[in-house]
Formats: sequence, structure tokens, C-alpha cells
Amino acid sequence: MAIEEELEGLSFPEAPKIVVKPPGPKSLELLNAQRELETKSLIYPKAFRFAIDAAKGATIRDVDGNYYIDWVAGIAVLNVGHNNPYVKQAVMEQLDRYWHWMSEIPSEARIRFLRNLHSILPGDLKGKAKVMTTVTGADACEAAVALARWVTKKPIIMAFEGAYHGVHQGIVMATAKTELQQYAGVPLVNVVRVPYPYPYRCPLPAKDAEDCGNAVLNYIDHLLSDPYTGIGEVGAIIVEPIQGEGGYIVPPRNFLRGLREIADKHGILLIVDEVQTGVGRTGKWWAVEHFGVTPDIMCISKAIGGGIPTSVVAYRAEYDEKLPDEAFHFGTYRANPLALAAGAAVIEYIQSRNLLDRTLQLGDYARRAFEDVAERYSIIGDVRGLGFMIGIELVRSKDTKEPGANLASEVRRRMFERGVLMHTCGHFGNVMRFMAPLVLTRRHLDEGIRIFEEVVRELSREVR
Ligand SMILES: Cc1ncc(COP(=O)(O)O)c(C=O)c1O
Repeated sequence: MAIEEELEGLSFPEAPKIVVKPPGPKSLELLNAQRELETKSLIYPKAFRFAIDAAKGATIRDVDGNYYIDWVAGIAVLNVGHNNPYVKQAVMEQLDRYWHWMSEIPSEARIRFLRNLHSILPGDLKGKAKVMTTVTGADACEAAVALARWVTKKPIIMAFEGAYHGVHQGIVMATAKTELQQYAGVPLVNVVRVPYPYPYRCPLPAKDAEDCGNAVLNYIDHLLSDPYTGIGEVGAIIVEPIQGEGGYIVPPRNFLRGLREIADKHGILLIVDEVQTGVGRTGKWWAVEHFGVTPDIMCISKAIGGGIPTSVVAYRAEYDEKLPDEAFHFGTYRANPLALAAGAAVIEYIQSRNLLDRTLQLGDYARRAFEDVAERYSIIGDVRGLGFMIGIELVRSKDTKEPGANLASEVRRRMFERGVLMHTCGHFGNVMRFMAPLVLTRRHLDEGIRIFEEVVRELSREVR
């Protein structure tokens, strides 16, 4: 069967179809029950007011019978789509055998997962790295930082403005959002914060994107070279190759390679957080491949479990010699067998359907379509992205670049009411992010962009 035909069959053909304005009565009942029973410390039920009934491919049905095109993918997790039949079969087969055991004992499923993962690692990590399994993205980032400290014996890590690496008490220090650090109740220790080259809003004086990359690189090099900067002994730099929660910010082309050179020059490890960017999201297995850079340590999560929680740290094999003989980072639930089966199948599915090339091409097409929309309306300041990771930054005016946070939440709400799920991100909450499953059909892409433009047109008139 031709791939496009297969992908058509993965999603609900009805989407988008709104039969009752969300939240419909059944959704409302469940939302109200949730409010009574659960903590208010939730994000998504406030942004998308519905209750889910079923999901297929790049589409979702709510309990009131509305069908949505899904451009959220469970927050960049379901790269091969909801309910992917190939992944489902692998999980069912594993389910028939066992679904939890002492988590480190080997099995065929575990080795299949590890072999598949090793075969797609970037650069000279491929086939040569060591891999440590963890459970969540934050867990992987924490393990990565702990590993770097073991290897370098240096306590300080360098992290970026706009970074998001999770909210666990350790790693939240590397996450840049001040309020998240305050919520976790931990002081900012052992972290040096540096600017990220955000071409649309470069934090340092610069005439263009490349200049912005160079300005940041020069500053970082200065911090590490001058003994009188007071930053302490830096062992590692942790970086997202494209910032996710920070606003889908693609750094200038020179940046990651420059960072690699600085890390090597100063004997510092480069930790790349591919939690959101990895497993094909940008049209390559890893975003670092767009920039020709190989990390020393890489954090992987989200899509690697196909929707079943798991994460991994991949690192240069020689670091094993520096680790204590006892395990230093572990947990009851790491490497869940269902997640390993799903993860192995995700990799095979992407390979067998040539989804990376498709994502590059269709992602390019989507970015250009969003750029076209941006030219027509004053409330879109910037469009950027690679593959199926595209950010559209909303502003009150193109001239002032004043962030339009309420515009973004309004675009999200109005798209939702028309049957397209699209989430926000960004320093000011003003960036719409396209992070659809890679199995999204061209038809659902075009229809979603049409609805996006309709909403942007309406809002542009209201802002005037
Ligand atoms: C780049 C990045 N790192 C780490 C995390 C944290 O992952 P988790 O939510 O699984 O802890 C996220 C989550 O969005 C992320 O985008």
C-alpha cells in the first residue's frame, strides 16, 4: 500500500468535525468531576476544555462526538500517531508475556530496543555509546547532569535562558523559568545561566542571526576563559538544539558547532537535550544532525516510548570508567517492557515508512505555508522551524514586536472550537507550536492551516 494511503487510514476521516461546541455536556461532566477530585495544579484541561474518548493517527474524538485534528501529539510524544497499529501489535505481544519485572534484567525486548536505538544515534555515538534507561524527560536530564559531574568532578553546569529540562527538584535549576524554580522551592545553585541565541529577539546586540550566534558564543567563551568571572568550575553545558517550551527557537546555523568547539577547548562536556526534538520530530532522527554536531551526552524521552513513559541517556562509552561500581542513578520503573517494545517498534515504523524524508518535505511545505500566512497579517512576527517542529510567534505589531500572549491563547481557543488542537509555548506564552504526529495527512495539514489562517484573520481585525 502506498504510504499516503496507509496514513489516510490511520486517522479518523471525519476530523475536523464539531457537532457540539466544546466543552459539550459529557466533557463538562468529566471536567467538573476532575476539578472536584484532582489537584488544581494542572495545565492542559484549562487550555483544552474537553474530555477524550478515542484517538487515531493525528486525530482525536472527544466524549461528545467532536473530531479534532491533533497538532499536539501528546506534547511531541506520539510521533508515529495515536494507536499506531504496528506499535500496538508490539505492545500487545509484550503484554501477553509480562509487563513489569525487576527492571534491569535483560530480555529479548530490551535488547531489540537497545540495538534499534544504538543504530540511530548520531555521529560517533552510533553503535559505540553506552545507554542508561530512565523514566521521564526530567529524569534523563537529571541523570545526564549527575553523570557529567561524575566524569568531570566539576559541580557547575551551564544552562540557557529559555531552557526547559523538567521540574524535578534537581533539574529544575537548569530550567530557566523563575516561577518553576520558586514552585519547586529550590535555590538556584550550581547553574550558570547564559543567553540562548534567539534570532528574533537576540538578547545581545547583533545585526543578524549569525551575528547573534557569534555574540552568544563569544560571551560564553569569555565566561569560561576569564578567571575573574566568578562562575566556578563548569563541568558541562546543557542545551536544547532547538528550544522547545522556550518558543520553538531554531538557533543560528553556526551556534551548536561553535558550542561544541568551546566545550572541547575548555574540557567541558556537551549535554544535548533531545527530549522534545528527537526521534524524527525535525525530519532527522536527532536535531543535532541538522547542525553536524555530536553530543557527549544526550537526553532522550517523549517519542522514544511511543506514548508509554520511558527515557534514555546515551553517552560516550569511556565515561563508564569514571562511574562508581555501584549504580548511581536508578529506579523501580525504568525501562518498562511495554515501553521498550513500543520504542523498538516506533523506530522500525519510522524507518520502514521513510517518515524522516516525508517529515522534512512536508515540514518545509508547512513552514512555507505559515510564512505565507504571516506575510498577510500584522500579528505574526516570526515563523521558524525544522520538520514538524514549527513555531509561529504572535505579536501586537510587527514593528514593535510586543509579544501577544493573549493572542496566542485566543488562537488556541478558537482553533480548538473549530476542531484543531494547537498549543502554545514561548518566553511570553506567545508562540503557537506545530508539533503534529509525523503521520499527519496532507489533507489534515492543509485543513488545519486553513483554519489557522481563518482565526488569525479574525483576530487581526479585532486588534486593529
Ligand atoms: C527539552 C525537554 N527536556 C525535558 C523535558 C521534561 O520531560 P518530562 O516532562 O517528561 O519530565 C521536556 C518536557 O517537555 C522537554 O521539552
